[in-house]
Amino acid sequence: MTMTPLLDIRNLYLHYADRRGAVRAVDGVSLALEGSGQALGIVGESGSGKSSLANAILRTLPTNVARFEGEVYLAGQEIAGLPETQLRREVRWRKIALVPQGAMNGFNPVVRTGEQIIEPATVYGDMTPRAARRKAEELFELVGLSAKVYTRYPHELSGGMKQRAMIAGALILSPPVVIMDEPTSALDVSVQAQIMNLLKRLKQELGLSIIFISHDIALASDLCDRLGVVYAGELVEIGSAEQILTAPAHPYSQKLLRSIPRLRDARMPEFIPGAPPDLRQPPPGCRFHLRCPHVFARCETESPPPFEPQPGQHARCWLLDEPP
Ligand SMILES: Nc1ncnc2c1ncn2[C@@H]1O[C@H](COP(=O)(O)OP(=O)(O)OP(=O)(O)O)[C@@H](O)[C@H]1O
Ligand code: SF4
Ligand SMILES: [Mg+2]
Repeated sequence: MTMTPLLDIRNLYLHYADRRGAVRAVDGVSLALEGSGQALGIVGESGSGKSSLANAILRTLPTNVARFEGEVYLAGQEIAGLPETQLRREVRWRKIALVPQGAMNGFNPVVRTGEQIIEPATVYGDMTPRAARRKAEELFELVGLSAKVYTRYPHELSGGMKQRAMIAGALILSPPVVIMDEPTSALDVSVQAQIMNLLKRLKQELGLSIIFISHDIALASDLCDRLGVVYAGELVEIGSAEQILTAPAHPYSQKLLRSIPRLRDARMPEFIPGAPPDLRQPPPGCRFHLRCPHVFARCETESPPPFEPQPGQHARCWLLDEPP
């Protein structure tokens, strides 16, 4: 029996209009988040389109969109084509909340922290201010803050506390799915570890499903059941965290893993030669071919489809194309 995935993204495109052409930030991405209490990591270099993917899922788009296309099924219901008012009323915050990249630095300095995080509850969630405040105070405690943080101003909180408050805010309407875009990249390592522990706890205790976006594959693998690797607007590999860590099939995933510094390994971390391509004019064929150590003729002209080297693992690389 196949179950309906919680979130099923099919052929999603988000291109931006730019003076010099269309920036193909999300270019035909398909992936699924199977069930509740699952975490899916989305990893890749800076500029590969991770934040664009997060925004495409919730259709929170800038004004210079050149192409937005694809389907997003949430528990079987298509949401990418919903009218804006319905998306806002029924989906954002309520079903899927997004903690945008750098959001913890976007608190309004002159409004008390709690008042800022209940805004979606009173605006979209028809909660009374009193009920929303009670919920916010409970959530502050759940994320390891005191209920008193409600009346504090953002400048009175440390970076880690602000990020906890952001996470509490994402939970205000009890969404089953939360997308977190680089939630720890502005924090120092020990605070980062505390936030990762908090996310693990929320996943276990609340059955929260998380899409965790990070440039750090090691960090993502600590929380995530599955990992998706993006390169130049495309999802080049996806599989269980174990498959990606122990048997990555795509040469780019292999390079990403070898770029992690290891404590118990005398080898120096490798860096990936060359630069990511310009998303206005990505290379033809496999987008990684200009940097790939295994490139061969076919890679330069034909874009590889996803192959399945192991059950549940998919990678877009011609090396996996077995002769019939
Ligand atoms: N509104 C926009 N208009 C034009 N180009 C944009 C816009 N937003 C993002 N881009 C470009 O789209 C590409 C993907 O950007 P995105 O922010 O999604 O990458 P990212 O993987 O999240 O990077 P980072 O790791 O640095 O956060 C980049 O080339 C970026 O410059
Ligand atoms: S398709 Fe070719 S260039 Fe692309 S990753 Fe595979 S071997 Fe390398
Ligand atoms: Mg980003």
